[in-house]
Amino acid sequence: MDFKLTEEHLMIRDAARDFAKAELLPGVIERDNKQEFPAEQVKKMGELGFLGMMVSPEYGGGGMDTISYVLAMEELSKIDASCSVIVSVNNSLVCWGLETFGNEEQKQKYLTKLATGESIGAFCLSEPEAGSDATSQKTTAIDKGDHYILNGTKNWITNGGSADYYLVIAQTDREKGHKGINAFIVEKGWDGFEVGPKEDKLGIRGSDTHTLNFNDVKVPKENRIGEDGFGFKFAMKTLSGGRIGIAAQALGIASGAYELAREYSKIRKAFGTEICNHQAIAFKLADMYTEIEAARHLVMKAAWDKDQGNNYDMSGAMAKLYASKTAMDATVEAVQIHGGNGFVKEYHVERLMRDAKITQIYEGTSEIQKIVISRGLLRD
Ligand code: CAA
Ligand code: FAD
Repeated sequence: MDFKLTEEHLMIRDAARDFAKAELLPGVIERDNKQEFPAEQVKKMGELGFLGMMVSPEYGGGGMDTISYVLAMEELSKIDASCSVIVSVNNSLVCWGLETFGNEEQKQKYLTKLATGESIGAFCLSEPEAGSDATSQKTTAIDKGDHYILNGTKNWITNGGSADYYLVIAQTDREKGHKGINAFIVEKGWDGFEVGPKEDKLGIRGSDTHTLNFNDVKVPKENRIGEDGFGFKFAMKTLSGGRIGIAAQALGIASGAYELAREYSKIRKAFGTEICNHQAIAFKLADMYTEIEAARHLVMKAAWDKDQGNNYDMSGAMAKLYASKTAMDATVEAVQIHGGNGFVKEYHVERLMRDAKITQIYEGTSEIQKIVISRGLLRD
């Protein structure tokens, strides 16, 4: 086993770290307070190539591997998980889905803009009555010959208000169950497409989450992705990689909280000494670091599996399951180590604690990851 990162990996990690400190840290508390979408920061991330890292250079992307992507995701998430979820959705759900399963016209028309950050994408699977149970889609797309008519509601959509292009999953033939589901590219501004109000959230408050309504939206047939009936598998395959990105986000939140807690414990004094000299605090740091290292190994293994062409359904699910729990545990302990200061915004750890929770919910809850892992274990 070779645990050494290449020079290129280290450069990418350092570039993401420097960018996060210089461009994401200023204003992160204010954006969280105001639930402000980080438009300026997203524009800069696009210019620097963070929005299409793994896309082939032929379509305007960075042509990087998944290891590079998770290293960047970790660094961005240490500082601002609202920004990193935008990066994750654009890279691993929208760009990857289009590059892997879209046709050449779709790639030229949409992927080239999404990979450079000129446009932003959203991935629309969840519905009010179909979250974990994703095959229960109620949104319909009726085949009208050269186009489909799309009707229904998607909720919880990240980049919902700020995206330009939306990958929308809908039922085209209810009789066929999951084989009657398709994925479509829908453009903002098409007649009948309405963006609902923004959700007021516990965490990742800078990221905009919206309900979307589709009322008789005409979608040209050339905007269907893949063969008829491929939509559910499209969503599942895309999410398998997306989960590696969210696992890296969780890892970043955990390691960001750990680093803040370690530094604080070295300067805060109680009972005549720095609090890190109290074993109860030092042991918390030891536990946090051990769990973070374990999470990092799972995240890297999943990214490596994807880069090697191995199946990564299970390794991605295990990485997300473990890293998201680590993010919750580490952020709660980071607040504890900060004492009263941990409870106020200025010290950042309370935001990281609020941001951590979503990593156990989106892109498949922890219970859903266990379904994926256990089915993988029990399959012949
Ligand atoms: N790759 C390819 N095919 C897959 C697959 C995968 N990873 N997982 C399932 N499939 C296929 C199955 O093989 C099956 O096809 P066949 O009948 O041809 O064999 C078909 O899909 C249906 O599979 P299941 O019977 O396993 O379906 P299920 O109803 O039991 O559900 C599930 C499986 C894993 C629970 C799935 O519904 C699921 O992942 N749910 C969670 C949804 C989710 O993650 N949503 C995230 C929304 S996006 C988001 O959240 C973004 C964000 O926040 C930033
Ligand atoms: P439910 O499915 O109702 O689950 C409720 C509880 O029951 C959970 O604890 C769940 O684990 C448990 N449960 C359900 N089924 C089982 C089972 N079979 N066994 C054991 N336990 C079970 N979706 C998108 O499509 N695109 C996005 O961009 C997106 N962004 C999001 C951003 C945010 C901030 C949030 C909050 C959500 C986002 N989602 C997005 C939706 C997210 O993926 C869903 O919330 C998630 O998949 C869970 O679905 P649900 O909320 O309907 O919960």
